[in-house]
Amino acid sequence: MKFISISEAMKRGKGKIAVRGWIYRERGSNELKFIVLRDSTDIIQCVLKREKFKKQWKDIDKLQIEASLELEGTIKKDSRAPSGYEILVDKINIVGTSEEFPIQKDLNEELLGDRRHLWLRSRKMVAIMKIRSSYVQAREEFFRKEGFYKFDTPILQPTQSEGGSTVFGVNYYDQKVYLAQTWQLYGEAAIFALEKVYNFGPTFRAEKSKTSRHLSEFWMAETEVAWWKLDEITEFAKKEIKYCIEKVAKECSEEFKHLGRDPNEILKIAKKKWPTIKYRKVLEILKTKDKMKVAFGKDLRTIEEEKIMKHFDTPVVVTHYPKEVMAFYKPRDSKKSDEALCFDMLAPNGTEIVGGSERSLDVKEMSKDLKKDGEKPEEYQFYFDLRKYGSVPHSGYGVGIERVIQWICGLDSIKDAIAFPRTMTRWKP
Ligand code: 4AD
Ligand code: MG
Repeated sequence: MKFISISEAMKRGKGKIAVRGWIYRERGSNELKFIVLRDSTDIIQCVLKREKFKKQWKDIDKLQIEASLELEGTIKKDSRAPSGYEILVDKINIVGTSEEFPIQKDLNEELLGDRRHLWLRSRKMVAIMKIRSSYVQAREEFFRKEGFYKFDTPILQPTQSEGGSTVFGVNYYDQKVYLAQTWQLYGEAAIFALEKVYNFGPTFRAEKSKTSRHLSEFWMAETEVAWWKLDEITEFAKKEIKYCIEKVAKECSEEFKHLGRDPNEILKIAKKKWPTIKYRKVLEILKTKDKMKVAFGKDLRTIEEEKIMKHFDTPVVVTHYPKEVMAFYKPRDSKKSDEALCFDMLAPNGTEIVGGSERSLDVKEMSKDLKKDGEKPEEYQFYFDLRKYGSVPHSGYGVGIERVIQWICGLDSIKDAIAFPRTMTRWKP
């Protein structure tokens, strides 16, 4: 018989079927064995009667959680079964037996981290991984519709770009190179050829803090566009995130419910207008509504981001951060010289999910800023060249995919938004 998925078998709902998967739960008596089988699509209860499996019973009786099986039998509705259907099994092929599975209930986070390769099979991780996959596919679809080109760039790079303190160095044939902190500088080179480009790739930051929102290796979804200014790029960033969360809320409604999230809430958020406010306005709100005094001139800290987002029920775009503390490529606003033409998008849970800006065209100022940070401007010659030959205004941004998944799934830790997290204290398995 041809194997079909468990969800397909339940769609048929009756008759002879063949399925395969892993034991999710099992219990037995002398005469019967109940197996809840799981595959990537769902779970189903299967019943084996001893009288039917005379010779095989010894092996069936010994089956443990996570053993892999091929089963043939008759499926029928059964309201008492965990997913509403049951298979009365005629034939079983034990493909791979299982030793005692080292994940039982109540394992602490450290042990679950050590056994991550096995914990991925949990229903929680399966739900999150499906949501992530759906999100990434929705984003691909969005950029194709919008007429963008996908543009791939090196992970090994000659310089830092987002601050020397979080860059990972790599020994490269006895020279020092760095793991990508961003795709952006190369994305900027591409807009002179392709105008609208995007990518999705691994990104590295040697974050020296252990927070619930920082990874050392994460996946950034970046975008760069020729000719666009700050207002166009911020509106486009909203459009991208709205498109993706709406699509994924529809596609993965069951998975969200499993995580205790209401997919309709996400749909509602996607339909609303998302405000854009200035950094200075944020300081004002913090002062008047939260009695928090923050002086102009610092990046917003976690505590301030969390406080400000208590006043909103959608993501918010914050623009015009203080130029002095921004990355070297964020341009000064000519109308207000202490502000940069940049933005962050903050999610309702209080985390920054997007960072972006117009790009500076002022080579002198960028060189000065780089020197101030202890960098050698000569190393950025390729980047400065882009300002020499037909320079145009351009803008872009990067979305931290794990931050978005953490927000929409309602996860306490960003570590669960990626299969094999890398942090200051976790790099195995
Ligand atoms: O704000 P960031 O640092 O911006 C850039 O790197 C720009 N070059 C992007 C661009 O304009 N093309 O990072 C962008 C986003 C952040 O908003 C956040 O969502 C995520 O990347 N991010 C992290 N996610 C997880 N762990 C970390 N350590 C992160 N650092 C940044
Ligand atoms: Mg940022």
